[in-house]
Amino acid sequence: MYKIAVIPADGIGPEVTREAMKVLAVAAGKVGFKYEAVEYDFGGDRYLRTGEIMPASALDEMRQVDAIYLGAVGHPDVAPGVLEHGLLLKVRFELDQYINLRPVKLYPGVWTPIKDKGPEHINFLVVRENTECLYCGIGGSMHKGTDMEVATQVMLYTRKGVERCIRYAYDLTRKKGREKKLTLVDKANVLTYGHELWGRVFAEVGEEYPDVKQDHAYVDACCMWFVKNPEWFDVIVTCNMFGDIITDLGAMIQGGMGVAASGNINPEGVSMFEPIHGSAPKYTGMNVINPLAAICAAGMMAEYIGEPKAGDLIDQAVSNTLGAGKIPDLSVKSGLKTDQIGDMIAQAVADL
Ligand code: IPM
Ligand code: MN
Repeated sequence: MYKIAVIPADGIGPEVTREAMKVLAVAAGKVGFKYEAVEYDFGGDRYLRTGEIMPASALDEMRQVDAIYLGAVGHPDVAPGVLEHGLLLKVRFELDQYINLRPVKLYPGVWTPIKDKGPEHINFLVVRENTECLYCGIGGSMHKGTDMEVATQVMLYTRKGVERCIRYAYDLTRKKGREKKLTLVDKANVLTYGHELWGRVFAEVGEEYPDVKQDHAYVDACCMWFVKNPEWFDVIVTCNMFGDIITDLGAMIQGGMGVAASGNINPEGVSMFEPIHGSAPKYTGMNVINPLAAICAAGMMAEYIGEPKAGDLIDQAVSNTLGAGKIPDLSVKSGLKTDQIGDMIAQAVADL
């Protein structure tokens, strides 16, 4: 019996979470495992009502579960950054979810803006470091509002933080890489301290993985190749900030935010799964947002709690449904309702 903390949170988060949980339930029934889902009301509404984002006890409770599922964060009446820091980044950091794993996979039947590329060309994994870099929160300002104003934002790396991320990426490449090729994406030509460390650790750890081919791309060139030759990528490892940026581009080439899922992973602890998209406040409650990204995130979660068969079922169901052209458009223009798509995928799982 697994225990899952579910945080639907803001905007369309609750709608897509409902569909993801619907599909997960069918997959669990089919594979034969049980779980208890404990829902938390964290998010903008609760914050506006109570002035508190999460009670102190919440993180301790979340340390006890098998996984956390998050819908979407961001509320139009809450200043930008408050919920991001107080909820999303808080859980990532406090639970030391040091990997952000983001598959970039073009499913059959999905339109990509990249000309002449299909599912055989766009299928790679991005391992984004998830606790350091420009996200460390160190910095400050002085002389604010004057012409002397100074602001710093520290790009911090630790040997341990870089090494554990790179090691995870090598292991993942060995396990899942199509070509067993790992590309380090950095800006070592300019970031001569921080990314010199990344390069050195990449080479050192790589000696333990003679079966994994080492590759390198500067982050600007990487963006070019995502568009020009996405088939060159198998597994990518990169820092937090670059990983944030290139995975939005990755989401676009795989057909949009509507199918992009991610896992905030602590390989030794509790992980949190979420669609990459935001809370799309203007569509709240309209039942028009496609829940596929949320459903794919639930599939990743199933795999990571130790039910890879359920993860495969969900992935296959999404792939079959899209491949059959049943969801003509991943945007709100599909003409399909959120719950209709959820029902479709749930049925597809049941039919497998
Ligand atoms: C993401 C998001 C977050 C990030 C924001 C909401 C803090 O953009 O998950 O990619 O920058 O990591
Ligand atoms: Mn992002």
